[in-house]
Formats: sequence, structure tokens, C-alpha cells
Amino acid sequence: MSKLIDIPLRHWDASGSAAQQAAALQALEEGQVLLLPALGFPLQQEEHALLEGVAGSASSAKNISWEAARGVRGHDDACDASLLAALMQRYAGHTQRLLAGLLPGYVPHLQQGKGSFRPVEIAGRATSWRKDDTRLHVDSFPSSPTQGRRILRVFTNIHPRGAPRVWKLGPPFEQVAQHFLPVAKRPQPVLAALLQWLHVTKSRRTPYDHYMLQLHDAMKADLDYQAQVEQQTHAFAPGQTWIVFSDAVSHAALRGQHALEQTWLLPVRAMAAPHKSPLAILERQLQRPLA
Ligand code: SIN
Ligand code: FE
Repeated sequence: MSKLIDIPLRHWDASGSAAQQAAALQALEEGQVLLLPALGFPLQQEEHALLEGVAGSASSAKNISWEAARGVRGHDDACDASLLAALMQRYAGHTQRLLAGLLPGYVPHLQQGKGSFRPVEIAGRATSWRKDDTRLHVDSFPSSPTQGRRILRVFTNIHPRGAPRVWKLGPPFEQVAQHFLPVAKRPQPVLAALLQWLHVTKSRRTPYDHYMLQLHDAMKADLDYQAQVEQQTHAFAPGQTWIVFSDAVSHAALRGQHALEQTWLLPVRAMAAPHKSPLAILERQLQRPLA
């Protein structure tokens, strides 16, 4: 089965047909990636220069992150932060309208997470194994617990000279959990309290967050698993957008440069099929409540 489904919307504020909305919802919750093959994000004149400037400054950060309330972080001093923030704000607004037209049932429940600008070439980027996104993983944030909420991410390849962003897509979440839960460490409530007290985490790391981090790390650390497990490669061309629940879809980014990403958090109860959430799957496999 293909892990991608095509949704041929051409405008950020287009509404999907009822059939497209139903297909998108089901595919997404089952762990497929929604590909919008003809939906690019046009840059304004002055933003093109920004793109080159940021990439050239060779900052060690893999991403420049943006939050509505805090602006951009991780950028080089030489780059124009207000221009970058305006770009990210515009992208966030576009992704919100796209989700409204395609997944209207989610919209009242979506909470805006961070956005990111990803100007650094992935291939050959020096990083620790834990931050190495060329290894298959499911997303989990060490300092920002989701406490069960879904991580819904919208990506757009904005490379100006045709370079694709190449991903691998791995096994379904159910299988990942079955493989790695038996060797996962138990959560420690005292440690979770301490991390919160020290502001290492922004809120309480629940047992759910603990197990998601265990899966993230165990997958990345296991090179035999990385080599042997079923996987598909897919190249996202510039001018393409894709939407994914990156907490459940195992993925790796192998190469590519210049992408935008906006994260939205979704409470599990807002899903059409909450039993397909990683929270429900982990709770079934471990036979205990986790959030
Ligand atoms: C990731 O979430 O693992 C990275 C995706 C990307 O930057 O394309
Ligand atoms: Fe990831």
C-alpha cells in the first residue's frame, strides 16, 4: 500500500470536496501522508534574498523556529528577523486555511505549535544520533510534552532551484510500538516532576510523553532496525506541500534544503477515530492509562 495519498488542491484557501475531506481524514488517521502535489508557497522578492542569506550563514542549528508569541529563534544575527517572522506568520496562516478547507472537523480543536524554516541541507549535516533525522523515527518533543495530543505537521518544499526533499517512510506505529515497547524503560514520576520544576520541560512529561521519547530514541539508536525494516523512499518536489501526523508515521529526511513547516497540536478526542491515536495504541499495548 502506498503511504501517500494525492490531494490535488491548488490554493491554500480552497475547500476540498466532501469526498476529498473524507479521504483526507481517513488517510491521515490511518498513518498516510497527504500530498498536495500542486500546492507551493510563493516567496516575495525580498524573501528570496533572505533564503540565500540564511543558508549561507551556516548556523549550526538545523532549523530556525518561530512562535507567534515569541518570534524567530535560532537565526544568525545577520539575518532580518522581522522579515523571517513575517514569512513564518504568513505560512502559518496559509496552513491554517488549508486545514480548514480539508479537515474542517479538526479546526475548532487545533492548537498552534511552532513553525520552522529549514534552510540547511540535510545530507551531511553534522549532528548527534538523537537529532539525526536521516534515521527513521516518530516525532516526540523532549522539552514540550504533548500529553497525548497529536502532532500534525504541514511541510512545503520551497527550494528555489529544483532540489527535492527526500523522505523515507517506515512501518506503521502499531508495529513500531510492538517492536520497541518491550525494551522501553519505565517512566519515573519523580523525574518528570523534577524536569518540570527545573523548567527542562514546559509542562509535565506524562507517561505517554515518556514512552514516545523512548520510541523516538530506541528507533534512532538501532542501526540494524534502520537497515532491515520495511521502508519507502519518496521525493517531495519544490512547489509541493504535505501533511502528516508525524507522531505516528515513522519517517526520516535524507536530503533536501529549504523547507517550511508548521506544527498543529490536536487533542485525541477531536479525531474521527481516537482509537487509532498513538496514545490509544500505547495504552492498549501496555494495558494502562498514560496521559
Ligand atoms: C523530521 O521531522 O524528521 C524532519 C523532516 C524534514 O525536515 O523534512
Ligand atoms: Fe521527525
